[in-house]
Amino acid sequence: MSKYWSSMVNRTDPYVPGEQVYHTKMIKLNTNENPYPPAESVIKAIQDELGDSLRLYPSPTVDDLKERIAQLNNVNKENIFVGNGSDEVLAFSFMAFFEPGKKILFPNITYSFYTAYAKLFNIPYEEVELNKDFTLNTSSFHHSKGGVIFPNPNAPTGILLPLDQVEEILVHNSEKIVIIDEAYIDFAKESAVQLIHKYPNLLVIQTTSKSKSLAGLRVGFAIGNHELIEGLEKIKNSFNSYTIDRLAMRGAIAAIDATNYYDEITDKVIKTRNWVSTELVKLGFQVLPSQANFVFISHQRISGEQLYVKLKENGILVRHFAKKPIENFIRLTIGTPQDMEFLIDKLINIVDSG
Ligand SMILES: Cc1ncc(COP(=O)(O)O)c(C=O)c1O
Repeated sequence: MSKYWSSMVNRTDPYVPGEQVYHTKMIKLNTNENPYPPAESVIKAIQDELGDSLRLYPSPTVDDLKERIAQLNNVNKENIFVGNGSDEVLAFSFMAFFEPGKKILFPNITYSFYTAYAKLFNIPYEEVELNKDFTLNTSSFHHSKGGVIFPNPNAPTGILLPLDQVEEILVHNSEKIVIIDEAYIDFAKESAVQLIHKYPNLLVIQTTSKSKSLAGLRVGFAIGNHELIEGLEKIKNSFNSYTIDRLAMRGAIAAIDATNYYDEITDKVIKTRNWVSTELVKLGFQVLPSQANFVFISHQRISGEQLYVKLKENGILVRHFAKKPIENFIRLTIGTPQDMEFLIDKLINIVDSG
């Protein structure tokens, strides 16, 4: 606390990111990073950009990257906004589309940055309870006063809301913005992007952090009606003209071009997810049906906290949220098949002795 802080600082409740461990042999399954490296062409593109050009500011309009994202998604450049990770795109979206005084809706079990942004920007919110099976109860998202936001697949559950139900939420909020945070959509392959022409109130947000193995580069983007994009540009240009640096821009373009490589590693992650889900069920775990690059699991006999601690003692870092009603769950990022075999081996011992 300081007497010099503004009321904005005083009302913050900052997001706490998963632990980062450097220079250790821990198997890191706690922040949903991709276990495979970025495509070689991405590294080369970044290396090629390293040099005298760094003297110059990067493009404030990020046109080349927008062009590529637009082509890939069958939309126009005017439908694309690019930001420094999807977290920044989310923050700008809260500023651009949500109003202090008008309550927004998001699930009670979801990405915890939403409450952090709502508090920061003074936006009232309601955390809508999920169904008992952790699916979204779509009718409770009808007729929001201030808008709706949720991840699809949801985090940390991994559960995907089918597109017809996404549409139902859009139809019943036609005067308000519905933001679908598709950070993990490439592991599910049913994006709402195809709906942006039908629903001018839809904003889809994606990232290169997960399926493109580029969490360290910080590139996220939004796809939506050109008026929404213009709103985001106004916020961004009132804040920082250059949120995407030269290396990030080149790297992200190369990643979008390396379709074959990324299709291949995404398939591997999905196969490993399916394998590990089956193995976990055999060990008595409840495994929520995930369409993401992580699984959310619990065990009747061992608490979430114990699982977290015991796995850490065995060199495996996972994510535990000490929050009701998910305190008995842990979230495991899908690693390589070797990582997952090691994990299952350790869990066999933990379950046996638990
Ligand atoms: C649901 C969700 N949205 C957004 C993000 C942020 O991703 P980025 O690295 O693009 O900022 C994450 C990261 O874990 C996430 O889980």
